[in-house]
Amino acid sequence: MIHGGRRLEGEIPISGAKNATLALMPAALLAPGAFHLRNTPALRDVTTMSALLRSMGALVELKDNVLSLDTAGVDRPEAPYEHVKKMRASIYVLGPLLARFGHARVSLPGGCAWGPRPVNLHIEGIRKLGAEVDLEAGYIVAKANELHGARVRFDVSSVGATGNILMAAVLAKGTTIIENAAIEPEITSLVQFLDSMGARIAGIGTNRLEIEGVPDLHPSDCETIPDRIEAGTFLVAAAITGGSVTLHNVLPGDLSAVIGKLQDAGCSITCGSSTINLHAPSSLRPVDVTASIFPGFPTDMQAQWTSLMATALGTSVITDSIYYDRFKHVPELVRLGADIELKENAAVVKGVQRLVCAKVMSTDLRASASLILAGLIAEGSTEVLRVYHIDRGYESIERKLQRLGADIRREAGEEF
Ligand code: EPZ
Repeated sequence: MIHGGRRLEGEIPISGAKNATLALMPAALLAPGAFHLRNTPALRDVTTMSALLRSMGALVELKDNVLSLDTAGVDRPEAPYEHVKKMRASIYVLGPLLARFGHARVSLPGGCAWGPRPVNLHIEGIRKLGAEVDLEAGYIVAKANELHGARVRFDVSSVGATGNILMAAVLAKGTTIIENAAIEPEITSLVQFLDSMGARIAGIGTNRLEIEGVPDLHPSDCETIPDRIEAGTFLVAAAITGGSVTLHNVLPGDLSAVIGKLQDAGCSITCGSSTINLHAPSSLRPVDVTASIFPGFPTDMQAQWTSLMATALGTSVITDSIYYDRFKHVPELVRLGADIELKENAAVVKGVQRLVCAKVMSTDLRASASLILAGLIAEGSTEVLRVYHIDRGYESIERKLQRLGADIRREAGEEF
């Protein structure tokens, strides 16, 4: 329940990155032993990945944002549908299991709230490294006596496929070249982690990675990078309420596209090495965005930007070049009084004077964030349903918003 109309003010810390953690945890499968991942966010998706790794024989514990993970006892290289259906990122275990055990059985991820999200690049990539891959009863069944180096060129830059092939290649015989690799900060942090485990990878931060396989790797510890999408979401929360907020434990460089657009909208932003301060104007200028691969504007901020533009002074166009129909939040924002028209993979947003409260339904993680942001300015009390989506990717979001002065509380909801 959100009662709108309060300006957000104050300071909050940003948590560790969900999408970095979901790559680091499976990477620990590559070397039997104990790992400690500091700054791990307490999220539903981390709980899901922990349950998946436990089902394979790992010991996993999260305490005070330190994840202790022991993979010595892993002996069941399988990812059952029961786990994978909850979270697509479970597919990240395919590469490491195949590399460590020579075989893996991983459920195909099911449908997603918005459109097709195929895994063909993951499968084609491991085939290039010499794996035999069959699809049986909804499972990817992969086996390889020995993985070998190869040239893998992705038609589309994919975060997940880059991560999976990287983790398969680090123990392969010979050298693998990944071309058109993703360069998202979550991939760079994975490369750094593998490097600290003894892997040989060149080209970090570029879209051409060269991986020289090694016979084995060793456990390592690391500090998870800050969550750039959580940070972006809170910057938009400050901007949409006309507030003034400082974020701590954040890497401004990972957010440059979002910061640039917020400045275009009229916000004044100052950055320190690990802080961002945003001071919002009394009214926002309309600013077009096109979501694209890093360092472009992230698709995971597209829904939040749509909410921000709903009360800007004029019309803006929000295009998503990664997911064509990631617009499930739009009809819900229209229920709050926004004036948005969908045209193919774009939302045309005509800024309105005000939003008015209503009951709205979350459909996925970032859509639910956009509805909470709209609720912060909608007149009256907005009820955002199915908030389990938000818990997948935001650590105690309502407590952080309350610290900034928002009138938001969690209530037991109706079952649907
Ligand atoms: C990662 O998903 C993130 N998830 C997503 O964040 C994010 O939206 C996405 O990257 C894009 O930035 C995690 O890191 C856990 P992709 P991923 O493979 O790896 C196509 C969030 O809100 N593609 O980079 O699944 C695909 O359809 C989540 O935190 C293929 O065609 O995304 C898409 O159009 C949601 N074949 C494009 O590539 C493949 O085999 C980019 O997808 C793989 C992908």
